[in-house]
Amino acid sequence: MSHVDPRHGAKQPEIFSADRAERLDDPAREAWLPTERLVALLDLRADAYALDFGTGTGRYALALAAAHPRTRVCAFDVQPEMIAIVEERVAQRGLANVVTQTGNAGELPAHAYDRVLAVNVLHEIGDADLAELRARAAPGGWALIVDWDGTRERPVGPPPDHVHTPEEAGQRLRHAGFTRIDALDVPQFPYHFVLRASG
Ligand SMILES: C[S@@+](CC[C@H](N)C(=O)[O-])C[C@H]1O[C@@H](n2cnc3c(N)ncnc32)[C@H](O)[C@@H]1O
Repeated sequence: MSHVDPRHGAKQPEIFSADRAERLDDPAREAWLPTERLVALLDLRADAYALDFGTGTGRYALALAAAHPRTRVCAFDVQPEMIAIVEERVAQRGLANVVTQTGNAGELPAHAYDRVLAVNVLHEIGDADLAELRARAAPGGWALIVDWDGTRERPVGPPPDHVHTPEEAGQRLRHAGFTRIDALDVPQFPYHFVLRASG
């Protein structure tokens, strides 16, 4: 009997455990992955739908929702422990424009999102879930894939062999069905590549 590995294609052997969730909230991240810049890169119009795929503790989903009150944000993560943290914060901050979802990517509602954000996630997800991410991008919409760059010297983040080079990432995105990949040069992100994937 053949066994299909649901994480086939992922570069990191294990996903980032919710046991380390507080590390996602480290203010030091702002020095090399400023939230404000990330939110601006999404170039959201009012009334847009955005999906934060692999939201973790919701650092970016919640910032996005606060900055764009008319954008509807879905914060999604495979680990329910992460989503419990996000839900607590949504309630504390009184954000009316965030919904949450946990479970497998295949269980995400078949909704079309104008923007799909994935920060430090591509190296953790398998090709099957990447195809689910692709399927959620609306026609005319795009995904912003921001991940550790395996070609850059870094004092932080996973080891180089657990992350992708921009070329590998682009190949995976094409394999998932995206037909156009634009590499964005974002000087404020010294350790990450930024790929805008569409089509
Ligand atoms: C390194 S954390 C990044 C979290 C957040 N994007 C950030 O940058 O603060 C990666 C997150 O992706 C989630 N994840 C990993 N594989 C996933 C999958 N197949 N579907 C949904 N979420 C996944 C993990 O549970 C974890 O919360």
